[in-house]
Amino acid sequence: MNLKQGDTCVDGTLGGGGHSREILDRIGPNGHLIGLDRDPLAVEDTETRISDDNATLISSNYADLPEILKELEIPTIDSALLDLGLSSDQLAARDRGFSFNSDGPLDLRFNMMHGEPAFKLLNRLREKPLADLIYQYGEEKLSRRIARKIVKYRHSTKVVTADHLARIVRSCYPKTYKQRTDPATRTFQALRIAVNEELKWLGNALKRYPDCLAPGGRFVVISFHSLEDRMVKHAFAQDDRLKVLTSKPIMASEEELDVNPRSRSAKLRIAERV
Ligand SMILES: C[S@@+](CC[C@H](N)C(=O)[O-])C[C@H]1O[C@@H](n2cnc3c(N)ncnc32)[C@H](O)[C@@H]1O
Repeated sequence: MNLKQGDTCVDGTLGGGGHSREILDRIGPNGHLIGLDRDPLAVEDTETRISDDNATLISSNYADLPEILKELEIPTIDSALLDLGLSSDQLAARDRGFSFNSDGPLDLRFNMMHGEPAFKLLNRLREKPLADLIYQYGEEKLSRRIARKIVKYRHSTKVVTADHLARIVRSCYPKTYKQRTDPATRTFQALRIAVNEELKWLGNALKRYPDCLAPGGRFVVISFHSLEDRMVKHAFAQDDRLKVLTSKPIMASEEELDVNPRSRSAKLRIAERV
């Protein structure tokens, strides 16, 4: 982000405030941080830890940044960060369905006040659209088999909990199947992307953020799966307002992987406002 003392920065995905804390320490008391998160619970919780006078934390969709800056009377910003996906706190919450082993409802919404929870979507969609969704957003090769099994099960019992869905997905894989990630990962990812319309909001932000940046300002995006990374890569490359600073994405070092294994699939790209 090329952070300097006095910068005005946006953390569009505040989460637990890890990045925001680091940003605040580097921009100093004369800087201004605007932290956004669609999850009101994340903002509420992080507010208890980040109470700096020069931090403005708002529960909002990051795609609404132009409107937020207008309201705050901030003409341009020096940098913006999006760290996509879900936070460790969301993953740990037993009642939100992000964790495969939780017996809580399969909700998967970042903001539980808006939209349709995943268990409703899962029990509503017909087999073909469900398979297409799992294939498209999860890049799951066994999508048809998984959708067929979900539909079969829901005739007798509706699929409402995270661990029920995870068990159905795992049962579609041969017993000998061995991989680093749980077979349920891709199906959960697909449903989460769908209920939160994640690709739509990312697309909107990629179009809107360059006009919020001052010349030389940086736009940094960390993504965790290929669909998002492809969108970021193409949007940066095709945008006349931006100069790409990363021809290849930056990945976590071995050292970082040791302390933060979840960074394994993270890809970071940077573009600068011309
Ligand atoms: C990977 S976490 C961010 C973690 C954060 N960087 C930290 O240091 O703790 C991603 C966060 O983005 C939020 N989020 C996802 N989509 C969003 C959107 N469209 N607008 C605002 N926040 C969003 C999620 O609710 C989640 O808290």
